[in-house]
Amino acid sequence: MADRVVVTRRMPGTALDRLAEVAEVEVWPERLPPSPEVLRELVADADGLVTMLTDRVDAALLDAAPRLRVVANMAVGYDNLDVAELARRGIPASNTPGVLTEATADLTWALILATARRLQEGIDAVRNGDWLTWEPDWLLGHAVGGATLGIVGYGRIGAAVARRALGFDMEVLAWSRRPKDVEGVTFVPLEELLERADVVSLHCALTPETHHLIGAAELARMKPTAILVNTARGAIVDQAALADALRRGEIFGAGLDVVVEEPIPVDDELLTLPRCTVLPHLGSATVATRTRMAEMVVDNVLAGLAGQPLPNAIT
Ligand code: DGY
Repeated sequence: MADRVVVTRRMPGTALDRLAEVAEVEVWPERLPPSPEVLRELVADADGLVTMLTDRVDAALLDAAPRLRVVANMAVGYDNLDVAELARRGIPASNTPGVLTEATADLTWALILATARRLQEGIDAVRNGDWLTWEPDWLLGHAVGGATLGIVGYGRIGAAVARRALGFDMEVLAWSRRPKDVEGVTFVPLEELLERADVVSLHCALTPETHHLIGAAELARMKPTAILVNTARGAIVDQAALADALRRGEIFGAGLDVVVEEPIPVDDELLTLPRCTVLPHLGSATVATRTRMAEMVVDNVLAGLAGQPLPNAIT
């Protein structure tokens, strides 16, 4: 009997054709993910599972999947997987590191510029007829060129964002649990970074240690002219504290590609704050990157089904 692989969303490119040559592939066809209950039913006789960052892989799901031999997550972040539980059961799991670094760094820069230069408000004004004329004091933002960038979490994506800052003549500060020796980047304590940076950009993984890493106390350390950009995971920021800080003018603005609840409820206060730009988790959303992520996922599933080490193993 052929192995059976469940894929929780449609994927770009032709990677799944390779998988279909050796396994029976069932792709969840909807735009919304299967509910946990439905996913539990889908995996009942699955040998392989391809998940997205919206799918929770926990003990309840694994209990429902007695045949499962591999889980491939189509994301570099894997806070949606209970890694300890997978390891305890000896089920190998993988992520998609490396291939989305540049796309996510580009998107981070789009948010840095959009937030510092108030693009959201400008675009809204053009569309709403509020663009009256050229006014010397209208929609003034803050310069990015020559400013200080603070990278929180200096992994692949943080480093790629820092590299782009060279072209903007920025001073680059970074905070990492494992400070490195990088030319042009000064590693400092988090408190110092928050106090000195004009742009604070988050690039750490979401773990119990980084949950709410940026809360009221951290926001209070930032300059009133500074912006916070998050393209990592929503829960790294205490969102209520962020809304408070923006409302009170404690910081100038925020650019978020990720939020705690995705999609963000349309009545969330953050969406009423003019200097908060929220995107729908587009970090890796280029044709090339998503196609490569899909290929990587398939490489890992094929290895798992064949009983070989996963090329991008996380367990
Ligand atoms: C990831 O891969 O973790 C990203 O958040 C997806 O865009």
